Order: sequence, then structure tokens, then C-alpha cells
Amino acid sequence: MKVLFVCLGNICRSPMAEAMFVKEVADAGLADQIQVASAATSNYEIGNRPHPGTRQILAKYDLDDRGHRARQITDADFDAYDYIIGMDDMNMADLRRLAPEGSHAQVCAINDHTPGHEGEEVPDPWYTHRFQDTYDSLNRALPYWLDYLRGELK
Ligand code: 4NP
Repeated sequence: MKVLFVCLGNICRSPMAEAMFVKEVADAGLADQIQVASAATSNYEIGNRPHPGTRQILAKYDLDDRGHRARQITDADFDAYDYIIGMDDMNMADLRRLAPEGSHAQVCAINDHTPGHEGEEVPDPWYTHRFQDTYDSLNRALPYWLDYLRGELK
């Protein structure tokens, strides 16, 4: 199963989600069954490393970005990935616009499985520099994604 986290630039939110989920998947013993990556809707930051604020959070929680560099989502991603998960309403609108007709991936929102928080956006630290808020929001949502995907594996 393949999961792609997506945000606008692929330097703040989605690389953080990728690094966090890689660890959750590994800790659950599912690293050989769930592949995790991230991408941007935009071309703004292509080739760039994660934002220093995201890297600071990853260091704080001993998470690894695996040398990530920002890339933009492609048509092929919509067939290669099973789940493409956006961080906010703009990501969702962009993903629905970018998805080739009839493509395989399910386009989902990050809080689709978070009880009581469905429809909530992950705060974009690009504007606020509140990277801890982004981590906290992801840290609430991601365990529900792991539970959900584990159920889909069976
Ligand atoms: P991200 O944050 O989508 O979480 O990676 C942003 C990165 C870049 C820009 C906006 C948000 N930008 O406008 O370039």
C-alpha cells in the first residue's frame, strides 16, 4: 500500500507528516507493507530541503526526513499511490483539479478519520512559524490513519 502526503510547497507540512508516519508505520511493524512519501501541489519549492522549522521539529522528536527534497505531484502519482492525503481545503481543491480522470488513488483529507475533527485543516506554519502546532495537529490525525490503513491491509 502506498500513501502520499501532499501540501502546497512540500517543505513544511507534508514532509513533517511523511517523517512522522514513516516512524509510526515502522513502530507498528508495517514498514514492508505501507510505503510513505510526500509531494507538493505547486512548483514553488521544487528541489528544496524541508523548511528549517520542520527540520527543527523532526530533530526534536528524533525523526528522519531521509534527505527529502520537495517535488511536485505528477499525473503518474495518481495511479501509483493508493491514498493521496491533503492538509487543507486548498490542497483538496487543487488535488481534485489535478487528478486525471479515472485515476486510481483515493484523494483524502488528513482529518478524514480523526473523531470529532473531521474537516479540520493542518495549520500552515509558512505564515505563522508555529511548527509545533503543525506537529500537534498531525500527531492527533496520523494514528487514526494508521488504524484505518491497517484495516485496509487485511
Ligand atoms: P507547505 O508550506 O505547503 O506546508 O510546505 C508552504 C510552503 C511554501 C509556500 C507556502 C506554504 N509558499 O507560498 O511558497
